[in-house]
Amino acid sequence: MLDIRLVTGPGRFDTLVLPVRSVEGTDAPASLVPTAVTLPDDLVTEATALVSAAALTGAAGETRLHLRPLATPVRLLMLGVGDGDETGWRAAGAALVRALAEETSVTVALPADAPPEAVRGLAEGALLASYRFRLTDAGSSPALAELEVAVDEPGRYDAALDTGRTTARMTCFARDLTNMPSSVKNPEWFADQVAGLAADLPEVDLRVWQPDELAEAGFGGILAVGGGSAKGPRLVELGWHPAGATTHVVLVGKGITFDTGGISIKPLSGMKLMRKDMAGAAAVVAATLGAAALRLPVRITALAPLAENMVSGSAFRPGDVIHHYGGLTSESTNSDAEGRLVLADALAYAVDRLAPDVLVDLATLTGANSIALGTRTAAMYTENDELAEALVATAAEAGERSWRMPLVGDYVEYLGSDLADFYSAPNRGAGSVVAALYLREFTGDLRDRWVHFDMSAPAWSSDAKAELAKGATGWGVRGLLRWLATLG
Ligand code: BES
Ligand code: MN
Ligand code: ZN
Repeated sequence: MLDIRLVTGPGRFDTLVLPVRSVEGTDAPASLVPTAVTLPDDLVTEATALVSAAALTGAAGETRLHLRPLATPVRLLMLGVGDGDETGWRAAGAALVRALAEETSVTVALPADAPPEAVRGLAEGALLASYRFRLTDAGSSPALAELEVAVDEPGRYDAALDTGRTTARMTCFARDLTNMPSSVKNPEWFADQVAGLAADLPEVDLRVWQPDELAEAGFGGILAVGGGSAKGPRLVELGWHPAGATTHVVLVGKGITFDTGGISIKPLSGMKLMRKDMAGAAAVVAATLGAAALRLPVRITALAPLAENMVSGSAFRPGDVIHHYGGLTSESTNSDAEGRLVLADALAYAVDRLAPDVLVDLATLTGANSIALGTRTAAMYTENDELAEALVATAAEAGERSWRMPLVGDYVEYLGSDLADFYSAPNRGAGSVVAALYLREFTGDLRDRWVHFDMSAPAWSSDAKAELAKGATGWGVRGLLRWLATLG
């Protein structure tokens, strides 16, 4: 991982990054920002002339590289930071990594008046944009290995840098899990990865429910969906319980390690990327580990129901009746609507056994998410206006977009089955909405303190852009961590 350090003084490296701020609300020429470390007068004069000669606007993420072959430092990167807030610096951090991918060591001169959040944004943007998923030597990673941030008072920025680092590290953990091919990533493997990280955080509790324990306790949804696979299902229950915490949040994440669709098999076009169908599970465990690493004063339990949805002689069928944890039943209308079956068990378990203050689930639940909102925005459902506002706002500040969708009352009747309490997938339109209505049936007393994110679309990026790499995005980790930090 890229090493980011705070330094006082002008920095040691021969690439210097100078921030350029935009003039609010205009695309008027921007100006160089006075930096915390004192730079030689001739350098400032040159850089100032450069900003105007190059007609820089200071827009967040704008870059202009200037070579000075006979001078020191030999390279100047003019870097647009927008308003100089966290969002602007996040874009700038990502742009810097992309513009200086050939350099190994660079120094950024922070503005004299930069708030601590600027360093958080810079760190998150740079670390997330440097991310690559590699199983072989093919392809190239950015060479950039060291980034010095030149400041006057390191103490002012330490905590922000630590938060940015932890947030990025956990987002990259979620990306790694989600990018991993499913030949490796079975439910047991996923649980082992969580155990590996949990071991470094002694105050975190981990229980991995084995198939016989799931059967004993009546987790019929997880067992039905996992029944067609040679690799048995698991339920990961990960807890962070700091002394004195007064709020308990349960985070549930869909963990289908591969989704063939089951007997209702998907065509290849819809199946080939279905290793990502555990992105919700990855996000909730990563956010919980991040909260523990940051010692946030809130109790968190992450539940990740893990199963592989395969086609075989032991696979569940359309028309089967599934007995969920807690006793409610579903008639499986389509084995490709498998995520909601495993989530139903986990939600019912959370309500019955953990009785949290707030229940949040994240799931790559429906293709309808991207039909409604495109590729970068999650669909959010809740009855609770306050939670809706808080979660949309914190996610947006973190650089993740979601949009609140309606839990349309009229469509509840679609769920009526002759054979069971509910149809799993009535298939009468509004796929993302109806899936949310189905999940709500399992939230019991927590019904108005439950939030569901259908994050099928933003979990994956088809290109490397800003702080996103191609492939898994780690969507949810940043927004959840920021929201959790507001509780307690
Ligand atoms: N995992 C898929 C949803 C999905 C689609 C995630 C595209 C990411 C990208 C889910 O299990 C699924 O197959 N949903 C079906 C539901 C239908 C059978 C009611 C869908 O959306 O078509
Ligand atoms: Mn499916
Ligand atoms: Zn699925």
